[in-house]
Amino acid sequence: MSSQLDLHLLPQRQLSDGTPVPPLGLGTFGSDKYGPEAIAAAVDGAVRYGYRLIDCASVYGNEAQVGTVLRQLFDEGVVARSELFVTSKVWNDEHRHVADACRRSLRDLQLDYVDCYFLHWPFPNYHAPGCDGEARNPDSKPFSVDEFMDTWRQLESLVDQGLARHIGMSNMTIPKLEAVLPLCRIQPSMIELELHPAFQQPALFDYLIRRGIVPVGFCPIGSPSRPERDRTSEDIAATQMPVIVELAARHNVHPALICLKWSVQRGAVPIPFSVKPAQYQSNLRCITEDPLTPEEMEAIRLADCNCRLVKGQVFLWPGADDWTALWDVDGTIHGA
Ligand SMILES: NC(=O)c1ccc[n+]([C@@H]2O[C@H](COP(=O)([O-])OP(=O)(O)OC[C@H]3O[C@@H](n4cnc5c(N)ncnc54)[C@H](OP(=O)(O)O)[C@@H]3O)[C@@H](O)[C@H]2O)c1
Repeated sequence: MSSQLDLHLLPQRQLSDGTPVPPLGLGTFGSDKYGPEAIAAAVDGAVRYGYRLIDCASVYGNEAQVGTVLRQLFDEGVVARSELFVTSKVWNDEHRHVADACRRSLRDLQLDYVDCYFLHWPFPNYHAPGCDGEARNPDSKPFSVDEFMDTWRQLESLVDQGLARHIGMSNMTIPKLEAVLPLCRIQPSMIELELHPAFQQPALFDYLIRRGIVPVGFCPIGSPSRPERDRTSEDIAATQMPVIVELAARHNVHPALICLKWSVQRGAVPIPFSVKPAQYQSNLRCITEDPLTPEEMEAIRLADCNCRLVKGQVFLWPGADDWTALWDVDGTIHGA
């Protein structure tokens, strides 16, 4: 099935200011496995099928190829710029040069503005793309409210300049949000966080919903193709959880689609990645048909394993114990 999906069937979502936002988007991180051309081709096919949200980032290394495809789609009249919600993110080594980073992404994406520009990680700790999981940067530092706010002020000025319609944060925790939200002149419209049935982050999810911040769920299928550096022997695959496998059999779909139905029905905006047309088409189509029942939603809720996959250990600073220091699991900001 490759003709366009009937977009009227998609559930409606909006940001706190009333801006409509698509209920599900296409991720563009190739996990070191898929190259820029394959991902750009997926963006092309996905938009033609009906995707209206594309989640980009400079560190994914493919914004120029994605930009070429977007230009072609606009030129052909497949979609208007105003109908597409495109995001990008400032990488960790550019926290002092946010406007330059955003302008470069805009140039690569061939856009005048992004719909949401994210602060990708809340600290400036840099590691080279594709580095080993054991790699550490001796210059890495713990989270600092002052440094974060200095960077956030630069994102706020992107809104003032019209380069970003909205701004967002990513990889945050409740303690960090408690520290910075009262200081923000412009609140984040969206926050990206890892969300899948094996890692539901209920407290952070509810915190965002209560504040009218849209939770954008990354790794919504449990990132089965993620790089080696992001794998440990304790990881639980969302698509292999017994409840997900059972519901997939009951609904006669791949377990990935149960993860996505659950995510959208819960109120998140998941951004699954795929370069395979049959996959990315079914990922969008599944949220228009055969919803999970309240009992099925509850069964998934009860199966949460609190299993974080993207641990971020390469961002640790000298002296930090282990990756949990990045995530404030005891309710305090480590090292601050
Ligand atoms: N803000 C952040 O820090 C952050 C972090 C991570 C990710 N992200 C964003 O989130 C996006 C999604 O995360 P992700 O790519 O790590 O993980 P994901 O979307 O959970 O998993 C993607 C993989 O799932 C498989 N898949 C997709 N649809 C499927 C289907 N219908 N049936 C069976 N398998 C299917 C594919 O595996 P195969 O390729 O093997 O077929 C695909 O590569 C990224 O692309 C990126 O845009 C953001």
